Amino acid sequence: MKLEQYQSAIESSNIISKTDIFGIITFVNDEFCKISGYSREELVGKNHNIVRHPDVPASTFKQLWQTILQQQTYKSTVKNLAKDGSTFYVNTTVFPILNENGDIEEFIAIRYDVTESVRLSEALIIKDEELEELNATLEERVNEQTKALMELNQTLEERVKEEVEKNREKDRFLFQQSRLASMGEMIANIAHQWRQPLSELNITLYKMNKLYRLQNEGKGVEFEDSYAHAKKIVSKMSETIEDFRHFFSPDRQSEDFALSLVAQEAMDIMQGTLEKNEVNIRLDIKKDASIRGYFNEFSQVLINLINNTIDAFCHNNIKNRLIYIEIDTSALGDAIIKVCDNAGGIEKTILDKIFEPYFTTKHASAGTGLGLYMSKMIINNSMKGSVIAENCNDGVCFTITIPLVKE
Ligand SMILES: Nc1ncnc2c1ncn2[C@@H]1O[C@H](COP(=O)(O)OP(=O)(O)OP(=O)(O)O)[C@@H](O)[C@H]1O
Ligand SMILES: [Mg+2]
Repeated sequence: MKLEQYQSAIESSNIISKTDIFGIITFVNDEFCKISGYSREELVGKNHNIVRHPDVPASTFKQLWQTILQQQTYKSTVKNLAKDGSTFYVNTTVFPILNENGDIEEFIAIRYDVTESVRLSEALIIKDEELEELNATLEERVNEQTKALMELNQTLEERVKEEVEKNREKDRFLFQQSRLASMGEMIANIAHQWRQPLSELNITLYKMNKLYRLQNEGKGVEFEDSYAHAKKIVSKMSETIEDFRHFFSPDRQSEDFALSLVAQEAMDIMQGTLEKNEVNIRLDIKKDASIRGYFNEFSQVLINLINNTIDAFCHNNIKNRLIYIEIDTSALGDAIIKVCDNAGGIEKTILDKIFEPYFTTKHASAGTGLGLYMSKMIINNSMKGSVIAENCNDGVCFTITIPLVKE
């Protein structure tokens, strides 16, 4: 009775089959049918190898038979094939059952299903392998990346060096360009300021030539004055170069001088040109004043103004040509010098443009538009003064205001 209970306990919890000594199935329990997918009828009477999986090598079965035929218990995890072609794993123990004579009568196999755990460990192995491979390639990839980075680092250093060098070259180029530009500007300024003395020199030479002929004709004339005038102009021209060379130099020396002197000087230099263009010039010194600055530069300003007036006289065909220069001091304590003419004035629409660089109403061969711009620069920067232009009566009046030298 008790034995039957044991039997049913084992049968309900395990997969059980029995075979005869030739391996023909004589009994299967429900669990066996369930896992193999065969019915009892399909199994009983068949060879046990009905559930054999083709993956399992023949040597395994050889080993099994050797063991059990020696009346020993065989234990192993076996891979089996179900009716539907699926695989299942069972942990198997095969016992030989002996009769009273001690001979093998039959075999009983008791198994339990380990498919899930085998699957899991298989999956684990695959994952392990994958991981190992990943690890290996990872190391390789890290090595590759490190190498690439190192290379990049090296070329980066080189590239930075190259760029720095390029930048330096650009800087040198720009410096060169700006030097050329400021040299160009200086040359333009000098050229502008040379135009007047050159034409004055031309007039003087013409005069000297005339005097020379008169002398040859026995008419006792002197051309000492003309010679001195020409020499003075040439020396002024060379001073102009120096003035512009030092225009932006911080350590050039300013000097004090009387406005009347500088006006006289400008008129002197212009003497021949004024005569030739039949211009009457009048200097009216209401109250002379001493100012601080640069004598030559200031005389250039007056020459520029007088030149512009002569141009306007010619352009407007003025008959009775008059330039009026007035020197005075203001109630506020500034030196005032006015240069006025009767040359027709400046159109209202352009009056606020005349001090701009390169603004000119003259033909390109006659004017560059630098005269008033340069004059304003000199008055503002070198003399710390100001200049304005207004139309008055039948001409223009330029008023220059310069702070007086304080003793
Ligand atoms: N006294 C004046 N009467 C009439 N117009 C004048 C007078 N002074 C200057 N202008 C006008 O102002 C413009 C600018 O004068 P600015 O001296 O700057 O240049 P420019 O005389 O034209 O050329 P540049 O002096 O370079 O030879 C002149 O083109 C002219 O139209
Ligand atoms: Mg001019």
